[in-house]
Amino acid sequence: MKNVIPIHTNSWKKLTIHFEKIKDIHLIDFFKNDNKRYQRHSFLFQNKILIDMSKNRIDSETISLLLELAEEMNLSNQISSMFTGEKINFTENRSVLHTALRNLGESSIFVDGVDVMPKISFVLNKMKTFSEKIIHGKWKGYSGKKIRNIVNIGIGGSDLGPKMVTMALNPYRNHLNVFFLSNIDSTELFNFLKVNDFETTIFLISSKTFTTKETITNATIIKDCFLKRNNCIKSMEKHFFAITANITAALDFGIVKNNIFQLWDWVGGRYSLWSSMGLSIVLSIGFDNFIKLLRGAYDMDMHFQYEKLSNNIPVLLGLIGIWYNNFFHSETELIVPYDQYLSEFPSYIQQSSMESNGKNIDKNGNHVLWNTSPVIWGSVGINGQHSFYQLLHQGTRLIPCDFIASIFSHHPIQNNQEILLSNFFAQTHALAFGNFFQKNMNYKNNCIENEIYVEKFKYFEGNRPSNSFLLKKLDPYSLGALIALYEHKIFTQGIILNICSFDQWGVELGKKISDDIFNSLLYRTRSVNYDSSTNSLIKFYHDYKVHK
Ligand code: F6P
Repeated sequence: MKNVIPIHTNSWKKLTIHFEKIKDIHLIDFFKNDNKRYQRHSFLFQNKILIDMSKNRIDSETISLLLELAEEMNLSNQISSMFTGEKINFTENRSVLHTALRNLGESSIFVDGVDVMPKISFVLNKMKTFSEKIIHGKWKGYSGKKIRNIVNIGIGGSDLGPKMVTMALNPYRNHLNVFFLSNIDSTELFNFLKVNDFETTIFLISSKTFTTKETITNATIIKDCFLKRNNCIKSMEKHFFAITANITAALDFGIVKNNIFQLWDWVGGRYSLWSSMGLSIVLSIGFDNFIKLLRGAYDMDMHFQYEKLSNNIPVLLGLIGIWYNNFFHSETELIVPYDQYLSEFPSYIQQSSMESNGKNIDKNGNHVLWNTSPVIWGSVGINGQHSFYQLLHQGTRLIPCDFIASIFSHHPIQNNQEILLSNFFAQTHALAFGNFFQKNMNYKNNCIENEIYVEKFKYFEGNRPSNSFLLKKLDPYSLGALIALYEHKIFTQGIILNICSFDQWGVELGKKISDDIFNSLLYRTRSVNYDSSTNSLIKFYHDYKVHK
């Protein structure tokens, strides 16, 4: 079956005409002309998260045309296909069922005629039992001591999600220390080995494929150090665990069967924190809080699956993203959490969006003639104000922003939270309206020539769009919902862009070439033959090592 080409749809053509009509309209005028604009474009999710999309360069016609586009691209059917386990990851012939992981046994979901829910429940129960033993000190290390440290060894989706959630939910954490080891650069490993106390530490080797070089190399080095210290393979059973879909490779590594926490090929790496890949989360915040995280995501799933498109928060956010990315040709999207605990959130969404939708071939196998994923970037907002916000306000690029904050601080001290939030509100206002509301705008008329000149540099034109996400409190439920919201936004965009959001072939070539170069670095005699730049860089490396 041929897939619909987005730019050939009627709605895309209408959007192109509509864009010409509204591209220069200022947000000041959008607000002036519609006194219900905020009410029209803001949503309260489960009385927990307020999402305000009114500061976007859209009007009701924009939204209705974008919704028409969603209809023409069969978004509703595609949403059902994902939830019911159809093999929508067609380049790998896999279902995409991270949503089943938070379904908590409410209904059966079949893959190849087999209900996946009993498997999910089995692994969840295993995570519960194991985590309780560790947290309550019933699981002892080889020398009889209680476990105090958890080390997750993994990279990409096997690192970013658990790390981000563990950090975000820090106020819910217990006494256990959790570390994340991802980098193959031995600096991280070196520092870790210096301080690690093997007797009280467990290692979670987290790799869906169990073939990722960074993870397996680091895990092997740690295993060797461990065995050097106590020289007893049996004692590994107390300390080494695998989280993987590749059971054979984990057994070959030396992990005993009981210590393997399974996941399945229908869980994408970047969507895996809800699976056994979330074991480090369960260990650090406890099973009940993990269930609340799943519950938040589940409620967002229900909203995404059943709410009509015109009120569907992830759908609307996805469509507005397409509007900027393909009509305004904005290249990037910024995520700025005004909450220290969410500092890893932009990196997490970066992988979700850019690995999912950073594609240039459409579902028909043709080169796309439209823009796919924007570059996602960001960091803690308040710090950004003192570094890159200058460009947001007065630079030449249009950068749509997502502002995220929590009303309630877990650690209120004096008026810090009010200062933080006043900045959050001020920035979205200043970006949208520039100096418009400032009384001193008329000052220009009375000042001398040089002052008029300098005034030009102080001018803020505004009209810079943003979404505001205001959480009542950053708790497991709200975080689960927020993550799922972004997942579904990205899904929506993948459907509109007519690409496969669930493979990641683009990361393979570099891995293959690095294997070849690695051999040449180790065995100098083996020459490589790439381009003259790469060959010369490798030669420089060899020469330097010889003459050092
Ligand atoms: O190289 C990219 C990638 O395949 C990601 O998609 C994935 O999250 C990461 O590597 C880790 O993969 P694995 O869990 O198989 O080690």
